[in-house]
Amino acid sequence: MSSDDNTAASRWQRLVTDRLAEVERLSPGRGSLSGAFWDSRADRYAANVKTTDIEGDPFLRALRRATDAAGTAIDVGAGTGRFALALAAGVRHVTAVDPSAGMLAILRRDAKQMGVTNVTTVQGTWEEAATQVADVVFSAFVLTLVPDARRFVSKLDAAARDRVLLYLGAYCPDAVLDPLWRHFHGAPRTPGPSYLDALAVLHELGIAPQVKVVEIVNRRRFATIEEAVDHYRDGLLLPDTPAVRDELAALLATWLLGRRGALRSPLRAVPAAIVGWQPTRA
Ligand SMILES: C[S@@+](CC[C@H](N)C(=O)[O-])C[C@H]1O[C@@H](n2cnc3c(N)ncnc32)[C@H](O)[C@@H]1O
Repeated sequence: MSSDDNTAASRWQRLVTDRLAEVERLSPGRGSLSGAFWDSRADRYAANVKTTDIEGDPFLRALRRATDAAGTAIDVGAGTGRFALALAAGVRHVTAVDPSAGMLAILRRDAKQMGVTNVTTVQGTWEEAATQVADVVFSAFVLTLVPDARRFVSKLDAAARDRVLLYLGAYCPDAVLDPLWRHFHGAPRTPGPSYLDALAVLHELGIAPQVKVVEIVNRRRFATIEEAVDHYRDGLLLPDTPAVRDELAALLATWLLGRRGALRSPLRAVPAAIVGWQPTRA
């Protein structure tokens, strides 16, 4: 695929690579959001997603509707395994694929603690992973990190017998953080692809999915303003200096709601898109 043609897939590729290039420029070493990047933040990610109510999550409900006790599933970019582990009791087997050894180590630790024995991990990117076909293949919050969406989605489609399900953010977090981003960086953030760009890529592949926009309740709370500073400094790609911390703390103090011990963003819920289709081979 040439990156200068006018297809949705090449537009997607430009959006992802430009976005990653900005990350790399502002925070050298982080631009490649690959295994090593997620290794370094696996513990933080696990703590963060634990604050979301997985049992109440609309994507988990969609996964349960699409699977049964005799069925198999592949979780692509499983991370610390919140969906794979929650789904495991209702299916025969789940394969969790992820390039990050650190994320998968947490998944295996949690599986052991929960007594889950039917989840197998495969370390590697989806593009390179060797896996069997499964009844349902799903991927949550991964596609926007992948430059070659066409290849990634085609492999999802080829690996599924009954259904493919994607979970993607359906709002622009950059818009929420835009005033803070501009304050520190003096320019708007380079945009990444949205779920609408994903739908355009699917369209080019001849896939006409069902799309449902749902709300994910934001249960993230910060015990202290310092904890919030850590979280937002990371998201805003800011250097860890006392001056930056002080300035960010002052700005967040005017924006966060709630009381000390349970500070929260004004966003009570964020929209996400569940994109599902019957594989083209079916
Ligand atoms: C935002 S996390 C999402 C984890 C999990 N799906 C969830 O919703 O909690 C993104 C994950 O995608 C993984 N990832 C990045 N590129 C990937 C690729 N090409 N193939 C498979 N997984 C990938 C990362 O290692 C990371 O664990």
